[in-house]
Amino acid sequence: MSEDSECFRGSTPGQGNDLSPSSVFRLRDLDHLEAIYAGKETGYFYARDGHPNAAMLAAHLAELEGGEAALVAPSGMGAIASLLLHLLRPGDRLVADAQLYGKTSTLVDRHLRELRIEVALVDLSDDAAAKEAIRPGTKMVWIESLSNPMLRWSPIDHLAELATKAGATLAVDNTFTPPPILRPIDLGAHVVMHSLTKIISGHSDVTLGCLVGKKSLIDEVKGTASTFGYHAPAFDCWLTERSLPTLDIRVRAACDNAHKLAQFLREQPGIKRVIYPGLNDHPEHAWGQRFAPLAGHMLVFELAGRDEVNRLFQRLKHVPFCPSLGDVTTTVSHPVSTSHRTRPPEERQQLGITDGLVRVSVGVEPIKQITSDFQQALAK
Ligand SMILES: Cc1ncc(COP(=O)(O)O)c(C=O)c1O
Repeated sequence: MSEDSECFRGSTPGQGNDLSPSSVFRLRDLDHLEAIYAGKETGYFYARDGHPNAAMLAAHLAELEGGEAALVAPSGMGAIASLLLHLLRPGDRLVADAQLYGKTSTLVDRHLRELRIEVALVDLSDDAAAKEAIRPGTKMVWIESLSNPMLRWSPIDHLAELATKAGATLAVDNTFTPPPILRPIDLGAHVVMHSLTKIISGHSDVTLGCLVGKKSLIDEVKGTASTFGYHAPAFDCWLTERSLPTLDIRVRAACDNAHKLAQFLREQPGIKRVIYPGLNDHPEHAWGQRFAPLAGHMLVFELAGRDEVNRLFQRLKHVPFCPSLGDVTTTVSHPVSTSHRTRPPEERQQLGITDGLVRVSVGVEPIKQITSDFQQALAK
């Protein structure tokens, strides 16, 4: 996205973002209910099927990501499961990138295989492998815009072309790179997913997810999600709505800090390597510069091993070890112990997720405050 893209606003205080915790809504008569089901009237009857706070948030998320419609799910994993379980049937073929958030990998690699869905886990940054894997008959392709935790860009524009040609739905988990960083639908993706738990809500007080895409598909998935029992709590929707007006400024400030912290960490003792998409030595630096020059608020670096990571976490005074990301304050995590704990050690090793790997979610504090904490914690 360009730096000067229009700032997204969300709701304004006093303009309808009231908290509506009701689980059921009174209807005028039977005709009223039928009019809501037929989409002739906006209204609500049972909160699991829809409520005002979810509807307002969904409308704003659709606008944010440039899609026709959105649905809000009770977590990021709830959004992923709703879409996959809605679209895929036994015998269908799913191509998923080999680098994904650990629980997404486990969902596709274990639970979908148990449902007799054909799953191909492929390095989709390899052009030949992607062309071979995304062949006609493929039902879905699942990728992350910027992979968790190794921060590899997926070539979304190219994969969208391959998926569309094969008749497959390309879904992109855009949790690491929300607008103003990147809008996958602008690059041809069919569905965008977010863990709203992360930088979109931004204050570590919400657990939610969402899907954005064509209205016909989103309406169908909404029905399936309600049947599975997925309900997005009104208060979490309300809190996320509160966060939207500051999203643009929070993301830009965090990306700027992340770039500076990456440069700083490269010079510190004991650090074997730093991975950040804004650095020249990132393997897909050119793709990132073209489509996402803000380069994100996440970075990883590698220490010698687990003991060194443990010591660092003990020594950091202001940057806490918190197994999440996207807060306004900087946090650190250890993918081997948290996000990728459920993945086989050989797979982690192959992807470069080593015992010494530290993932940093960079916040919006004054940069000196962040760098000085790392400096004292890394000092011998
Ligand atoms: C990239 C990514 N996708 C999805 C999820 C799942 O989101 P949630 O924790 O809201 O279920 C996470 C959680 O860390 C994530 O990092």
